[in-house]
Amino acid sequence: MKTDKISNEAQLDASGNLIHLLGLEGLSSEHINQILDTADSLLDEKGNLKKSKALDDMSVANLFFEPSTRTRNTFEIAAKRNRAKVINVDLDNSAIKKNEALLDTMLTLKAMQIDMFVIRHNQNGLPHHVAENVSGVSILNAGDGINAHPTQALLDVLTIRQIKKKFENLSVAIVGDIVHSRVAHSDIHALKTLGVKDIRLIAPAGLQHSPENCEIFNCFEDMDEGLKNVDVIMMLRLQKERMIAADIPNEQEYYKNYGLTNDRLKLASKDAIVMHPGPINRGVEIDSDVADGPQSVILKQVTNGIAIRMAVMQILAKNHRRQ
Ligand code: NCD
Repeated sequence: MKTDKISNEAQLDASGNLIHLLGLEGLSSEHINQILDTADSLLDEKGNLKKSKALDDMSVANLFFEPSTRTRNTFEIAAKRNRAKVINVDLDNSAIKKNEALLDTMLTLKAMQIDMFVIRHNQNGLPHHVAENVSGVSILNAGDGINAHPTQALLDVLTIRQIKKKFENLSVAIVGDIVHSRVAHSDIHALKTLGVKDIRLIAPAGLQHSPENCEIFNCFEDMDEGLKNVDVIMMLRLQKERMIAADIPNEQEYYKNYGLTNDRLKLASKDAIVMHPGPINRGVEIDSDVADGPQSVILKQVTNGIAIRMAVMQILAKNHRRQ
């Protein structure tokens, strides 16, 4: 499915308030900064998470149709830290296995008085479809196909803002399987909206972003060239599950050309940070010395994921009650 026809329109009400989180395209820097500021207010000076009662009277359903460790568990922790009740819908044993239409499952869950659905699905635009067809609930996109992963991009820019303070003068490199990565697609929107001027997309020819994007951003096939003096390096996993067999690169070859090693890291700014949404494949796209090294912020991203998801839920809950 093409991703360019998917509309995020349903996520804002007539006054421009966020009522679902479907994607970052269409959100202003004010929307994004409100989420980042709320997330920061949920962390203490040491970076530890606070608790809140913001969703005391609400229920959140986790609907993960694809595997997930970080995203699913941090959504659950975030909902519980907001005092919501959480229902992890067991999709392997659900009526969907009896061919119930997905929208019927959603309407059934709504009839159980569930207020928010967190949805991950391999189909582009599936959360958008639910948002357009089931009223009175808030939809949070936890990753749809190769289209978008908005909370991942929000936690990424929160992590960058905490360390680098400002976006305007940063050089940010996104490296790897860009074409299949919903994380990269959402990161590009977040960084652009927040004013990053130098966004570099580094990938082998077959995994490059669309030619249109290479007209707007700086595309590189040569990783060493692309990494020069960057402030932020965002590494990506090879999304093999989204490739046809012929497209899967040889891992050793890939590591040689696109693996982030300490030697390559030296090409970036001295204080560059290394990010990865996880799961990481050590020795494929990133060397263990780098993943576990002093410039890596990979685990900080995980903690920030809880703050971001708590913040989004709080903002949606407020606007949900207003409706
Ligand atoms: C990503 C995803 O599922 O899109 N992971 C995540 O949510 N932390 C990236 C990936 O699977 O490589």
